[in-house]
Amino acid sequence: MPEFEPVLTARWADPAAATMDGYLAGGGYRGLAKALDMSPAEVIEVVKTSGLRGRGGAGFPTGTKWSFIPQNTGKPVYVVANFDESEPGTFNNRELMERDPHQFLEGLIICSYAVNCRTAFVYCRGEFVWPGTVLERAVAEAYERGYLGAKVAGSDYALDVVVHRGAGAYICGEETALLESLEGYRGQPRLRPPFPAVEGLYRSPTVINNVETLSCVPHILDRGPAWFASIGTEKSSGPGVFSISGKVERPGNYEAPMGTTARDLIAMAGGVTDGKALKAFTPGGSSTPFLTAQHLDTPMDFDSVAAAGSLLGTKAVIVLDERDCVVDAVLRFTQFYAHESCGKCTPCREGTWWMTRVLGRMARGQGTMQDIDLMRDVGQNMLFKAFCALADGAVSPIDSSIKYFRDEYEEHVRLGRCPFVEPGEETAAAAVAAPPAHELALGEVLG
Ligand SMILES: Cc1cc2nc3c(=O)[nH]c(=O)nc-3n(C[C@H](O)[C@H](O)[C@H](O)COP(=O)(O)O)c2cc1C
Ligand code: SF4
Repeated sequence: MPEFEPVLTARWADPAAATMDGYLAGGGYRGLAKALDMSPAEVIEVVKTSGLRGRGGAGFPTGTKWSFIPQNTGKPVYVVANFDESEPGTFNNRELMERDPHQFLEGLIICSYAVNCRTAFVYCRGEFVWPGTVLERAVAEAYERGYLGAKVAGSDYALDVVVHRGAGAYICGEETALLESLEGYRGQPRLRPPFPAVEGLYRSPTVINNVETLSCVPHILDRGPAWFASIGTEKSSGPGVFSISGKVERPGNYEAPMGTTARDLIAMAGGVTDGKALKAFTPGGSSTPFLTAQHLDTPMDFDSVAAAGSLLGTKAVIVLDERDCVVDAVLRFTQFYAHESCGKCTPCREGTWWMTRVLGRMARGQGTMQDIDLMRDVGQNMLFKAFCALADGAVSPIDSSIKYFRDEYEEHVRLGRCPFVEPGEETAAAAVAAPPAHELALGEVLG
């Protein structure tokens, strides 16, 4: 791998970096000073030129998103940072916040200045008790030291930041459900259009960005868009923090240029556990289609991963090795989506639930060959037919696992048990998926 100087994680080894003094000592808030010397439109242009694309999953160009915000509508403009990070396998926002909260906060302030926002919000995942506390401490320090409030860094620009803690729902990471939740309603996605850029928080123009996206911004302003664009690939510029978990020797967050191959990333994490062979990996979290050993040399950038048949998503590589049961892994993912479905639309609410049932009996060795096609059929009735992308994400692991590992499903049927556990045993997920006793009793009553 070519030499790479970490950017987003450069200060992680220094505990002082999480404090204002430590951050300033490392050159912090220099990007903000440069931004405040420019007009808001110039800041947007710099971010556009850098080629930064959103790290929250969809890869939308950040500068372009900011440029969509209409000005002079008579309504306030809001910026909302999405710190709900709940996708299984994804944990880079959390560490970015715990170890370097001012890097994020500086990016949030620059973004707010660029779109003329006077009140910004951070929506913090409910379970993130400690990271949320670190963030609140950083916000308090920024007020004390004049980086927030009436005169940001001594300028005429005023900004307030509100930290809002969610209640622990994955769907509240979906940007419109997040806005509903922030307004105090049940966190369910909104119909689009209108898009948040036009009618977002309190029906006002709103920018929503991921924590890692915003953490890139101070560096772009400080070191210039050409420097940022020189890292990574032409269409996926900059550094990225990849969360690598599952069967690797040293699970964790690893920073590398966008476009680093999955093989190199897994090597950074110490390789597959016990030197075993890799069976499958998700490139972008549990909602992105599985890839296999044949895809290890795929550059992990938005376009290359899409060309390989998956999605870069949140850059969360979950590794399964040759000892892992794919059916069991897919069952676990599906149980998560069934639990987190907000219930607003039928294909997702019913589809995810039924999928856990069919996968559950498959994992326990009670499935049939027809069940494999049944799952594909149910998936087709969910894909692009639900209200938001949660349902599409729930179909990804099922469809892709059947595509690459149909033989493993068939073996469960032929053997009448999971081939990866001892006869008579079952995995934890399969045990949970067994129909509850009261349903079995109901089945007897109803015949
Ligand atoms: C079900 C679902 C959950 C999501 N969860 C998150 C999340 O936790 N954090 C996040 O930044 N984006 C999440 N997203 C993507 C957001 O809707 C949105 O695209 C993103 O916050 C935009 O930021 P970016 O442009 O910086 O990537 C989720 C999307 C869906 C469909
Ligand atoms: S797809 Fe699922 S999570 Fe999204 S709105 Fe429909 S029920 Fe809710």
